[in-house]
Amino acid sequence: MGGRPLEGTVRISGAKNASLPDFCAALLTDEPVVLGNIPEVRDISTMARVLSALGAETAFRVGGVAEVRAATLTSVEAPYELVKTMRASVLVLGPLLAREGRARVSLPGGCAIGARPINLHLTALEKMGASITVEHGYVEARAERLRGAEISFDTVTVTGTENVMMAACRAEGETVLRNAACEPEVEDLAALLTAMGARIEGAGTSTLRIQGMDRLKGAEHRVIPDRIETGTFIAACAIAGGEIEIRSCRPSDLRAVIDKFRETGVRIEEGPDNLRIRAPRVLRSSNVNTIPHPGFPTDMQAQYMTLMTQATGVSTITESIFENRFMHVAELQRMGASVRVEGRTALVTGPTPLSGAQVMATDLRASASLVLAGLGAHGETVVDRVYHLDRGYYRIDEKLRGLGADIERLT
Ligand code: EPZ
Repeated sequence: MGGRPLEGTVRISGAKNASLPDFCAALLTDEPVVLGNIPEVRDISTMARVLSALGAETAFRVGGVAEVRAATLTSVEAPYELVKTMRASVLVLGPLLAREGRARVSLPGGCAIGARPINLHLTALEKMGASITVEHGYVEARAERLRGAEISFDTVTVTGTENVMMAACRAEGETVLRNAACEPEVEDLAALLTAMGARIEGAGTSTLRIQGMDRLKGAEHRVIPDRIETGTFIAACAIAGGEIEIRSCRPSDLRAVIDKFRETGVRIEEGPDNLRIRAPRVLRSSNVNTIPHPGFPTDMQAQYMTLMTQATGVSTITESIFENRFMHVAELQRMGASVRVEGRTALVTGPTPLSGAQVMATDLRASASLVLAGLGAHGETVVDRVYHLDRGYYRIDEKLRGLGADIERLT
C-alpha cells in the first residue's frame, strides 16, 4: 500500500555483483577462500551450486560468511540447467581454463534486457592461447597453459574484464588489458586476487597489468557493500517521502548516482559508510544516460525512471548499455506513468499520480522499480514474479517494512 513516508535506518548487504566473481576466484587455488559480507540472495546459492558441480564445496556460516574449498575439481563443466538461471556462471570459464587447461561452459543465451553475447570473453581467451569451439550450446575451451597477452576490449565489459583478470593471474607471463571495466566490483575482485598472491596493477582504471603466477594461495576477504541496493533505497525514500539513514554502504562507489539524485532535489548527507536521505517536497526532472563506471549505472536506470515519473518536467533517460532494458515501462504506464520510448531513449513527463495496480516483474532491477512505484502510488500494488527481486536483494520487503512501508510478501 503506497503513500507512507519512510523513516529510520536500513543496513546495506554485501554486493551481489562482487560476491559472484569472488566465489569463482576460489577456483584458482586448492586452499580455502573465506569470504565475508556475502548477501543471502538467490544468485549466491546458484553460484554455490555451480561450484559444487565442479567439485568445489561452499560452507555458509552465520553472519554472511562463506568458505569455498576447491582442493580438487571433479569436473570442468558448468551445466545448462544452472547457467540458464544465472549468466554470471560464465565467470568459471577463465579460472577453469587457467587451472585445469579445459572448460566446458554452457552459453548463457539471451535475457530480458538484451542479447548479451560473450564474444569478447572468448576472443580475449583465444588471444591468451586458448582454442575455443562452440558446439551444442556449449563453449569448449582448451589450453595447455594460458599465455599473457595484450588485449583491448572493443566494448567495456564487466564480467569480461573479471574473467580475463582471473585467467591472467595464472597464465604464463604478463597480460595487459585495455578498455577494461572500472566498476568497484572489479576492484573488489582484484583485492581478493591480490590477497591470494596475485600481482595486479591498475584495478579501477581502464588499463590492467597482470603478472601470471604458477600458484595462488587461500585468503580471507570482505566483500564491498552493494552500491545498487544503496541507490535503490535512496530512490525509495525520494519517492515515498520522509527521511532515512542508510548504513554499511560505501558512498564513494556511487558518486554519479548521488550527484544525479541531488540534481533532482533529494537532500543527501554523506558519511564514510552511511548516508542520510531527505526527500524533497518537489522533485526536479533531470536527464540521465547510462554508461560504464564511473558514469551512471544501468542497474539504477529503472529505479531512476520511477523517480522521474514524480518529478516536475520532462526528463530523458538514455540506456546506452543494454538494447532492451525498458521492460518496466509498460508496467509503469499501467500505473498511470507518462513515459514514451523512442529507440534507446525514454521521455518521462511528470509529475503524474501513480495508482496501485497488479504489475509483473521481468528482471531484477525492473522488479525493484515496480516496488518503488508501489511505495509512491495511491492504493494497493501487487508485484508478480518477485523471484526476480530475490535474486539480488536480501529481504527487501522486510527492510522496507523496517522503514515503515506498508508492504508484505504474498506466498
Ligand atoms: C554486469 O553484467 C552486471 N552483472 C550487470 O548487472 C550489469 O548490468 C552490467 O555488468 C553492466 O554494468 C554482473 O556483474 C554479474 P557487460 P555483464 O559485459 O558483465 C556487451 C544486475 O542487475 N557485451 O559489462 O554481463 C553487452 O551485450 C546485472 O545486477 C558484448 O557485446 O555486462 C552489453 O551491451 C544485470 N560482448 C555491454 O557489452 C561481450 O562479450 C556491457 O555488458 C560482453 C559484453
